[in-house]
Amino acid sequence: MYMIRGILYLCAIFSITHGAKILGVFSFCAHSHFMVGFRLMKELADRGHEVTLISSFPREVPIENLREISVEEMKKPVSEYLNKLREFGQLNHWGQLQFMLEMARIYTEIVLKNQNVQALLNSDEKFDLVIMEHFWNEAFTIFAHRFKCPLIFVAPGPTTIFNSHLLANPSFSSYMPNLLTGYGSKMNFWERLSNTFLDLLSAAFVEFRLLPDQNAVLKATIPNAPQLRTILYNASLMFVMSDISIHDPIPLQPNIKNIGGHHVGPLKALPKDIKEFMDNATEGVVVFSLGSNLKSKDLDPEKKRAILRVFSKIKQKVLWKFESDLDEKPSNLKIYSWLPQQEVLAHPNTVAFIGHGGLLGTIEAVYFGVPILGLPTFWDQNKNIEEVVRRNMAIKLSLQDLTEETFGTALHQILNDKKYRRNAKLRSQIMHDRPMPPLEEAVFWIDYVIRYRGAPHLKSAALELEWSQRYLIDILSFVSLCLIAIFLVVSFVMKKIFSNSMHRVSNLKKNK
Ligand SMILES: *[C@@H]1O[C@H](CO)[C@@H](O)[C@H](O)[C@H]1NC(C)=O
Repeated sequence: MYMIRGILYLCAIFSITHGAKILGVFSFCAHSHFMVGFRLMKELADRGHEVTLISSFPREVPIENLREISVEEMKKPVSEYLNKLREFGQLNHWGQLQFMLEMARIYTEIVLKNQNVQALLNSDEKFDLVIMEHFWNEAFTIFAHRFKCPLIFVAPGPTTIFNSHLLANPSFSSYMPNLLTGYGSKMNFWERLSNTFLDLLSAAFVEFRLLPDQNAVLKATIPNAPQLRTILYNASLMFVMSDISIHDPIPLQPNIKNIGGHHVGPLKALPKDIKEFMDNATEGVVVFSLGSNLKSKDLDPEKKRAILRVFSKIKQKVLWKFESDLDEKPSNLKIYSWLPQQEVLAHPNTVAFIGHGGLLGTIEAVYFGVPILGLPTFWDQNKNIEEVVRRNMAIKLSLQDLTEETFGTALHQILNDKKYRRNAKLRSQIMHDRPMPPLEEAVFWIDYVIRYRGAPHLKSAALELEWSQRYLIDILSFVSLCLIAIFLVVSFVMKKIFSNSMHRVSNLKKNK
């Protein structure tokens, strides 16, 4: 009986959400950003939804149920920015925000001007849902508005001051460190002061620079576009790349979901030569990759030599993602221009990961319980590494400070101090210990939003308040005014009574 009811119930769910039409907008041309969205879109297509994906990385082999609209033409202009990322790390906070803003303007304009995107916007196609990456591209909320359908944001990182406002998630500078700091949630007075300042600066930047800029992009590319502010705060849900194993607990609205780790797997078989190399590494393997934006081959030659000298002295083997040839390679080192990163991190012989602190790579290392030696250079990388350093599963070494000695000491510690491995295993266990895997959870909530046509019951009432109302500024001002008024009235009356009685006293004296 229960079983029949269960089956009927499942059928009911599937009959509603099976084969929905979903538009995915994951257009930014950094591969890690694309992967976050692609994993999700591919899963939806595999489950029978009809997916359209706007991206800069069109697949060579077509995928069933997945139609692609390529906006690859952004790669050239945007790569000019991505190539400057190393200098980006040297800019002050305002400079970094300004840099992002300029890149954002260029790439969002290219996407919205793209012929096929314009054709889509002007078509009479219907969609049940738009899922878009939120990354300096607020103008893209026009897609959901245009198709009059629910919207889900996917943040490429955790909740921040840049995305919390979209769903009115509470944001406290007292214990929620800004993305651009390396602070943890326990800050001393001076750290809280600087964190508050940075949060205010970032919020002001969004309000007075980013949103007007995105509004201008919208107006310039879409005829008769509405004001950005009138369509921006209408999303049903936001997925964030966060997990309790590496990020501190913070308040979340019921329509914000942590799906950090959703992109991991399914694992493929390792290429034969890499598998042999790793299987035979009885002392363990160190995996080294600086990601796809920063190239190992562009490392300063002096630092490259220092790294190679350190590698030549350890008993472990080393796998290095290195994009060109390398002479004077020590015998325990193998280089590949491309590494199947998840698969090599998953190998039981892997004992350490040297990375740049990109969020996805850091999550993968935690997922597989591998200690990290982090060499962060820009944006959120410092914060990502600090999070795992605080959890005693990583060591941070700034790329500027890298010498044979500092690098050698750090690597030696990571490999020989057992606490790093122990804590990495613990964090991995925590990451796996959840009611359902993050990808399953994401799919559940996507279906949920479609089922309830935007699930308006999840939206916070705070979205309808002005910021001055939300933060009780109006109430506090009113109460302060009342207090001042009462004080004035009381002091006026007191003065009157006091001067009257003084008057009477002096009159009395005079009359005597
Ligand atoms: C707001 O979202 C709902 C679905 O969640 C949609 O039907 C409506 O058209 C959207 N409103 C605007 C102004 O885009």
